[in-house]
Amino acid sequence: MADTEKTATLTIGDASWDLPVLSPTEGPDVIDIGKLYGQAGVFTYDPGFTSTAACESKITYIDGAEGILLHRGYPIGELAEKSHYLEVCYLLLYGELPSAAQLEKFEHTITHHTMLHEQMANFFRGFRRDAHPMAVMVGVVGAMSAFYHDSTDINDPRQREIASHRLIAKMPTIAAWAYKYTIGQPFVYPRNDLDYAANFLRMCFSVPAEDYVPDPILSRAMDRIFTLHADHEQNASTSTVRLASSSGANPFACIAAGIACLWGPAHGGANQACLEMLREIGTVDRIPEFIARAKDKNDPFRLMGFGHRVYKNFDPRATVMKQSADEVLELLGVDNNPTLQVAKELEKQALADPYFAEKKLFPNVDFYSGIILEAMGFPTSMFTPIFALSRTVGWISQWTEQLSDPALKIGRPRQLYTGETLRHYVEVEDR
Ligand code: SDX
Repeated sequence: MADTEKTATLTIGDASWDLPVLSPTEGPDVIDIGKLYGQAGVFTYDPGFTSTAACESKITYIDGAEGILLHRGYPIGELAEKSHYLEVCYLLLYGELPSAAQLEKFEHTITHHTMLHEQMANFFRGFRRDAHPMAVMVGVVGAMSAFYHDSTDINDPRQREIASHRLIAKMPTIAAWAYKYTIGQPFVYPRNDLDYAANFLRMCFSVPAEDYVPDPILSRAMDRIFTLHADHEQNASTSTVRLASSSGANPFACIAAGIACLWGPAHGGANQACLEMLREIGTVDRIPEFIARAKDKNDPFRLMGFGHRVYKNFDPRATVMKQSADEVLELLGVDNNPTLQVAKELEKQALADPYFAEKKLFPNVDFYSGIILEAMGFPTSMFTPIFALSRTVGWISQWTEQLSDPALKIGRPRQLYTGETLRHYVEVEDR
């Protein structure tokens, strides 16, 4: 637990209570209200948790004002440039960058767990062909608890580690098979001679009639997208995983819950919604119309890919993603992509508009990722499954951290009740 030296005093009427203030290694102090209800008989109220720290964590730190994102202390820009996804997975899971031997062993383990239990292929076939790949992923990941019984005991650290490795290793296969199933193509099995990102691209785009050999630049861009989405502190889907885990649910059920939450357009679904919005805008001359709608209080429309609960300056991931977008589109000879032109002009006009500056709305991680994925040949329905694939290591790292906390209790928030007070049943003939 972070150290406690200071206190905060809460006064209600003529009564006061001192509450411990915990000091972090980075970020704001927190007031420990764990005993508040017992002492003062009051709850705190914070729907959306805009001012609430739900846990202590050592994994990821974000400074929204400064646009800082650290994974175990390392800046996301350095990791995106110098590291690669599986090394970042090791860092998030174990807390330190691996030695060469540790990395080789970890990569060998992940590589040799990428296949699914063959009977799971039947599970995919139970879905309608037009199912959204996220619906398939939620179902298939939840069903892993019916296939991998030897890694569901959350009280056994070794089983927790095996489940973690299985999930990281198998998510690309699950996402690729969800895609192949919805386009009516046969499943492509993973290959151990390919790296993580290249394997995923090949499982998505290879067909029996013609193998797919990923271009190294595309594999690198794919790996970078995985890295940029790996973890992000206590976002909605991670908080969902933590809450599910607090009841003792098995790892596959917890990650399926995280996938379900990520699907929403305000969260991981924003990359799909952003590209669909850019397509709806269509041409640069229609941008002012959409910016006006985003500013109109009577119009529920929002600029997808803009804004963030924490980042009120810029999303450091978007900066890196924008560089990748330029590289990929130049390689593919689509740097005059009309969607990219609209994206770049929209960003320019929005950032010049006082409304967005006042509301501190900047492009987030989802703004450019969709453009890269579309250029690679993915349909928009695959954008969030790729986000889910990437975020699995973050969910699993936070899940592991929480289960290792001896003070873990089931999460059970209270409420501000404003419903009816006690009243008694009235017979229907008397109503
Ligand atoms: C992700 O939490 C994470 O870390 C998430 C994530 C991760 O890695 O896990 O970073 C991934 O989810 C990124 C965010 C993707 N979502 C979108 O791009 C959807 C569009 N963005 C918005 O829905 C919104 O910005 C949120 C949900 C992201 C954040 O909303 P907040 O912090 O709850 O802010 P808010 O809704 O209270 O908005 C504050 C003001 C409001 O105006 P007022 O009521 O104060 O007048 O800003 C306005 C909003 O109307 N606003 C926008 C806007 N986002 C907020 N106006 C126009 N367009 C937008 N996109």
